[in-house]
Amino acid sequence: MDLYLKGKTAVVTGASQGIGRAIVKQLAMEGVKVFATARNEDLLNDLQAEVRAAGGVEPVTFAQDLVAPDGPEKIATQALASLEHVDILINNAGRSRPVDVVAPEAPWMESVTLDFDRPRQLTQLFLPHLMERRQGAILNLASTYELRSINVSAVAKAAVVVWSKQLAAQLGPYGIRVNCLQPGLIDTENIRPFFPGDERKKFAGREIPLGDFGEPQDVADMATFLVSPRARYITGTVAVVDGGMRHHPF
Ligand SMILES: NC(=O)c1ccc[n+]([C@@H]2O[C@H](COP(=O)([O-])OP(=O)(O)OC[C@H]3O[C@@H](n4cnc5c(N)ncnc54)[C@H](OP(=O)(O)O)[C@@H]3O)[C@@H](O)[C@H]2O)c1
Repeated sequence: MDLYLKGKTAVVTGASQGIGRAIVKQLAMEGVKVFATARNEDLLNDLQAEVRAAGGVEPVTFAQDLVAPDGPEKIATQALASLEHVDILINNAGRSRPVDVVAPEAPWMESVTLDFDRPRQLTQLFLPHLMERRQGAILNLASTYELRSINVSAVAKAAVVVWSKQLAAQLGPYGIRVNCLQPGLIDTENIRPFFPGDERKKFAGREIPLGDFGEPQDVADMATFLVSPRARYITGTVAVVDGGMRHHPF
């Protein structure tokens, strides 16, 4: 199926590893010029080489801490200078942050900044550009809100979902679509430390109808579709890629 993505441009955050890296590779193979950003320059260089070797459109890479106060500004300025125009924005950078019921302010502030404030600020920097061009697709990586223990990232992502739905309603008349993608448990560095040894196998056999964690590629496939013109009538929604897990029993 032709996704009609050839020649489009995209900004992807959290591009150095895991889900973001898989999204960059998939978009590049579909003919999208990607501006790929994260902190780890070596991993970004390696990603660039990997895409080149696979015959995709070589991404522009930009090493930047998104949490730095001027992170969003630097990323937006550099992306617009490199790509000239932006069709797609994927706010993917984020990280699980479990805390105690009574927790210090620092982890709360850090996680809410990374998982909600920075994607919101980065999006706001691109909005005048997207609205002027009267087109665009924004995809925000969310997560489940049905946890049984406190995880700041999941709280921030719940805010991302509500904000995305509000944005979708207001930006529809400008031809801009805004969606969220909610992964279940995907095998990345973000998740691995929580399931040492054969915990993953035991957990997945018990709790995931499809029997295992997902791979970053499973999420990248859905992400690529959602930002493509094929999804032209889909906005304000949350797409779930979780092997049927639905609830998180931890
Ligand atoms: N994996 C899952 O099961 C799962 C479940 C629910 C939701 N999610 C969500 O899916 C998204 C991707 O997760 P993942 O599992 O692929 O995570 P991951 O493997 O840990 O990758 C996270 C990415 O975010 C980047 N990042 C983290 N902090 C950053 C910062 N301060 N500035 C710039 N970039 C930063 C990392 O790059 P650098 O370290 O190079 O900066 C990395 O590229 C996240 O939003 C996550 O919350 C994942």
